Amino acid sequence: MQFQITDYADYHYQYQLSITQPEAFWEKIAQTFIWQKPWSKTLSWSFTPFDVKWFDGGMLNITENCIDRYAQSQPDAIAIIWEANDPNEASRKITYKELAESVAAYANVLKLHGISQGNRVAIYMPMIPEAAFAMLACARIGAIHSVVFAGFSAQALADRIIDSECKLLFTANGMYRGDKEINIYAIVQEAMQHCPSVKTVLYEKRTAAAISLQPNREYWIAEELKKVSAVCATVTVSAEHPLFILYTSGSTGKPKGVVHTTGGYMVGTAYTFSNVFQYKQGDVYWCTADIGWVTGHSYMIYGPLLCGATTVIFEGIPTWPDAGRFWQVIDKHQVNIFYTAPTAIRALMAYGLQYVQPHALNSLKTIGSVGEPINEEAWQWYAENIGKNNCPVVDTWWQTETGAIMLSALSGISPLKPAHAGQPLPGVQPVLVDNEGQEIHGNDVEGNLCMRFPWPSMLRTTWGDHERCQQTYFTTFKGYYFTGDGARRDENGLYRIIGRVDDVINVSGHRFGTAEIENAINEHPDVIESAVVGYPHEIKGQGIYAYVITKKPVIDESAFVSAVAATVTKMIGSIAKPDKIQVVVGLPKTRSGKIMRRILRKIAAGEVTDFGDISTLLDPTVVQQIVANKK
Ligand code: WT7
Repeated sequence: MQFQITDYADYHYQYQLSITQPEAFWEKIAQTFIWQKPWSKTLSWSFTPFDVKWFDGGMLNITENCIDRYAQSQPDAIAIIWEANDPNEASRKITYKELAESVAAYANVLKLHGISQGNRVAIYMPMIPEAAFAMLACARIGAIHSVVFAGFSAQALADRIIDSECKLLFTANGMYRGDKEINIYAIVQEAMQHCPSVKTVLYEKRTAAAISLQPNREYWIAEELKKVSAVCATVTVSAEHPLFILYTSGSTGKPKGVVHTTGGYMVGTAYTFSNVFQYKQGDVYWCTADIGWVTGHSYMIYGPLLCGATTVIFEGIPTWPDAGRFWQVIDKHQVNIFYTAPTAIRALMAYGLQYVQPHALNSLKTIGSVGEPINEEAWQWYAENIGKNNCPVVDTWWQTETGAIMLSALSGISPLKPAHAGQPLPGVQPVLVDNEGQEIHGNDVEGNLCMRFPWPSMLRTTWGDHERCQQTYFTTFKGYYFTGDGARRDENGLYRIIGRVDDVINVSGHRFGTAEIENAINEHPDVIESAVVGYPHEIKGQGIYAYVITKKPVIDESAFVSAVAATVTKMIGSIAKPDKIQVVVGLPKTRSGKIMRRILRKIAAGEVTDFGDISTLLDPTVVQQIVANKK
């Protein structure tokens, strides 16, 4: 791509330019895309109140940029390589020309069912190319997609559909995950009891599971595709038109719908994809994230396709049929760039090198990490055994809200330091602030990670509740976007993310609010109150520890613990199941009724001696009682 940084001097030059002349910097990058009408104002912004617009007045369609232009210039180049869950099932290769046709046909099916610009469409699908077709089909006609991770429960799916009033749901009859077959149909049927906004459900046929379709409401996509053509004109939208909503957890209440818009997101994901991974034409790129998370949006679909790349979509899991599955897929498809999460690296590391050794892995050029802090040991293992000490490890820090990578080394260009995300990408202005909101200058310092200037791919609002967006991100430290993370800036200015400083926990790279899990636990009829904290977990990064007060003494503890776990699975999904549940008689509360989570975190982490000042507690003896029965 024209905007690819070439060496470290160029990085410094571009970075300086992006700070001193941000508008001129981003204009040049944005000009490399197809716009139906040029923008009139590159940037207008305020953080108090929060109101940011990039490329305002510009008109475009993102699919012209990630599909049509490549379907013309390189029609036979492979856009998507799909690898099935089962290694014995044939993989699929989809060219840019075929992608164009499929997306157009899917878009026509949407239109056939009355979907038009601005309507919300939910996508609850396995990792199959059709999930990408569904997303891009929405974008083609200006509909707003809301992908829900297919591991979420019926209740969680319904919550998200209700919040954004989706009119249509793309889903499948079933899905495969390792040796399991999951009945998505049953989950969807349950969710649909609560979703009056949904008028149409479209099913992809992924498994042999028979399903019964409700007339005039539920359809097989394959049947609908027979009715439409493979040509679909784009709907041109404004740069600030919402492209998608993606729900993510925060420290309070229900997950919120992060809203990303079209122009800025396009520019940001393409720029960062090209630069961080140093993608060269013909490279095969594989991001293992699920399409239900932002990484699956920005770095499995949009970023790579905007750069005309070949992107691998993998349906399976890293440990089935055995723990060599990732490495086997890398060799099979000659993957050059591999991007995964620390939790997967740690899990595979624990299985031992015998699963790595049979695989050459010599196609790899760059390996990346995302989603949670990568500990030094995992970083080294990854660099040595997967990268063969020959591939830069790019540790990319970003968030659902940032849309694109913010802090990272650029492969082969920037200095690498284990467990450090490194330097900001051009256009990113990170600052560390103390708890009073004062900027901490200089190096070798630690603080709350904030941004002091907008970037094109940042969120614009949270769906239906702008005030919540203001409160969550722009109120803690006035004048800044607050990430929720604590970070260190080392003596050379490289950033290291320490972890969340709010009530958000990161379990295997999945983000949950402690309040969200507590609310789920409290749905159990015998629970009066609960408190959830994270604790260090060898594989997951953080585990979930729940302290629970019950209405009556628990007689069969293991049955109770299973029942609480089942409640969480029902309300959110099994990914949010507590690792440890301790029944307690009381929680450490201050006189004003606030739970002192600091103490609960310490106990969960196994630090049971020094609790600091607990004199403000209403009843300090509960602490000893909790310690005595610690899990
Ligand atoms: C939170 C965002 C970014 C896509 C996947 C997660 C943590 C993310 C890193 C990293 C240390 C990281 C942060 C962040 N995080 N990447 N490279 N090093 N921590 O997106 O679900 O929105 O979660 O994940 O705590 O705030 P998300």
